[in-house]
Amino acid sequence: MLRGVLEVLQPYEAGKSIDDVSLEGKKPVKLNSNENPYPPPAEVIRAALEALKKANRYPDSSYRRLKKKLSDYAGLPMEHVTVGSGASEVLDNICKAVLEPLDKVVLPVPSYTMHLFLSMIRDVHPVYVETEDKGFKICAEDILSASQGAKLIFLCSPNNPTGLTIDREEIMAVVEGTKAMVVVDEAYHEFCGKTVAGSVQEHENLVVVRSMSKFFALAGLRIGYALASSDIAQSLEKVRLPFGISLPAAEAAIKALENLKYYESIKKEILGERERVFQEISGIEALEVLPSEANFLLVGLPDTPSVDEIIKALGDNGVFVRDVSKMPGLRKNYLRITIGKREENNRMLSGLKKLFSSC
Ligand SMILES: Cc1ncc(COP(=O)(O)O)c(C=O)c1O
Repeated sequence: MLRGVLEVLQPYEAGKSIDDVSLEGKKPVKLNSNENPYPPPAEVIRAALEALKKANRYPDSSYRRLKKKLSDYAGLPMEHVTVGSGASEVLDNICKAVLEPLDKVVLPVPSYTMHLFLSMIRDVHPVYVETEDKGFKICAEDILSASQGAKLIFLCSPNNPTGLTIDREEIMAVVEGTKAMVVVDEAYHEFCGKTVAGSVQEHENLVVVRSMSKFFALAGLRIGYALASSDIAQSLEKVRLPFGISLPAAEAAIKALENLKYYESIKKEILGERERVFQEISGIEALEVLPSEANFLLVGLPDTPSVDEIIKALGDNGVFVRDVSKMPGLRKNYLRITIGKREENNRMLSGLKKLFSSC
């Protein structure tokens, strides 16, 4: 009765929710889903609450006001914008619009596993491009040599889980060297200030996907968007669900885009902490940490203690980080650690120091 692909697919494993754990009075430190540790500003919360009063009505299915704000924010005309319930839905809409069974999809690894997951649901032929031997650097030459006859290429910059960005020249060389659609996932772009969104008007095969879950601290409300040529953006509008973004979420997102100063101020805190945490972890001899341009760090682990022991020891102290060791493209064990508030980072750091003081 069910499609064969569902026999091999496992449900997407998100970072453990705080609701799933009992902490016996300890305040949990959630550093496992690359969320923003700060809440949205009061104006944004008020806008969502106000919208609840109209919850008996459907939202405007074209989301015109939201798209106008996003178009101003991205510096592109509105017809280049498509929206969705999180970047996840936008990525799914792309797969829905583009992929047919057995299409070739190129994925550098390690990268965001939803790219693979959403492609696999369409019965595609995935082709990995390994990057670990090159220090996780993603080069156009490697991508293009794997892309003969490909329909879709996923790039992620800054990349989850490495935190590294892909050089603009490399991205544009891929875009110009292939007939495939090139999706650049920029979910974390505000943390590095780099984007290729300005090139979507001249490049029909370039799609930039963004999220409001990270910099804009709206992970719980589910807002994402993509920037693309008007043809592609309008096609993606055809395949999305008409009311995928709830009314409170749309109103909160509009208000968030009017409060950039607040977001810049919390970004400054996060980037300061990223540097401090990077330096602290670099000082632990047994660990390797990559310099990140996002709001998380990838930390390479030694063989002992085991990754399960590390996760358990931190978890017993209420600190949750992500074990990404089983991600395709990683040959040894790694943790991905989100940058939290100062006191949260301190609890995580003291846990790591305790574990590795004798190594
Ligand atoms: C690279 C990347 N893209 C997209 C997403 C999904 O974002 P959203 O919450 O907007 O669905 C994530 C979430 O962690 C991510 O890391």
